[in-house]
Amino acid sequence: MTSGVAGETPMARRKLIAGNWKMHGRSADLVWAERLSGLLGRAPGSEILVFPPATLRAPMASRVPGFVAVGGQDCAAETEGARTGDISASMLADLGARYVITGHSERRRLHGESDGLVRAKSEAALKAGLTPVICVGETLDQRKAGEAEAVVLRQVFASVPEAAAGRVIIAYEPVWAIGTGLHASPEDADRMHRAIREAWRSGDGDQLRILYGGSVNPGNAAGLLSREHIDGALVGGASLDPDSFAAIIRAGG
Ligand code: PGA
Repeated sequence: MTSGVAGETPMARRKLIAGNWKMHGRSADLVWAERLSGLLGRAPGSEILVFPPATLRAPMASRVPGFVAVGGQDCAAETEGARTGDISASMLADLGARYVITGHSERRRLHGESDGLVRAKSEAALKAGLTPVICVGETLDQRKAGEAEAVVLRQVFASVPEAAAGRVIIAYEPVWAIGTGLHASPEDADRMHRAIREAWRSGDGDQLRILYGGSVNPGNAAGLLSREHIDGALVGGASLDPDSFAAIIRAGG
């Protein structure tokens, strides 16, 4: 791949392994932090990130080792106001968060979030100084109809704000692979990541980090993470168990 600047060596995209706890976890589960720390020992080569539920964000941040960042699972598009139950990006930043997930397919499906809203949330995150991890992915019907790539690129264009590649992260999460035990083959995922990278408009696509998500586990992580265009993983179910999460982190090198 070429770098954004002619004549320079391409800037390495550091791998990122992220755990998305979704609506799981009670205070007793915070022992996860010490167990993960014990399993990993020192900082791994990859960047590590965990997205606990909002209730556990602060206590988790105080228990994880310094090399693990703690992010939010969602944020509002607004900064503050009469929005009961919502949390703004600047509130997350105020607590020391540096990342937030936007546009997860569960938010799109269960909360009716459109590409436009995902984009507004991602813009709010950028404004608050956070890096949004913006999720895209096709359904099984769309894949069967041969529309996977078109759907995903459309979502990228409509949900991702215009920003330098280093300011955002994209997570390709085929909807049919989330929580199902089915995962995209490393070849298929790599092809999709490459298509996203090539479609990136600002010319710095080789610096864009694109994570794969959807039933990543210790058995399939190495195959996925060894691919050129797969820069990391967004792990749901398998991130709840520190042993599995540590094994996935080790698979990232
Ligand atoms: P899963 O979830 O690993 O349980 O499939 C991934 C995600 O939804 O981010």
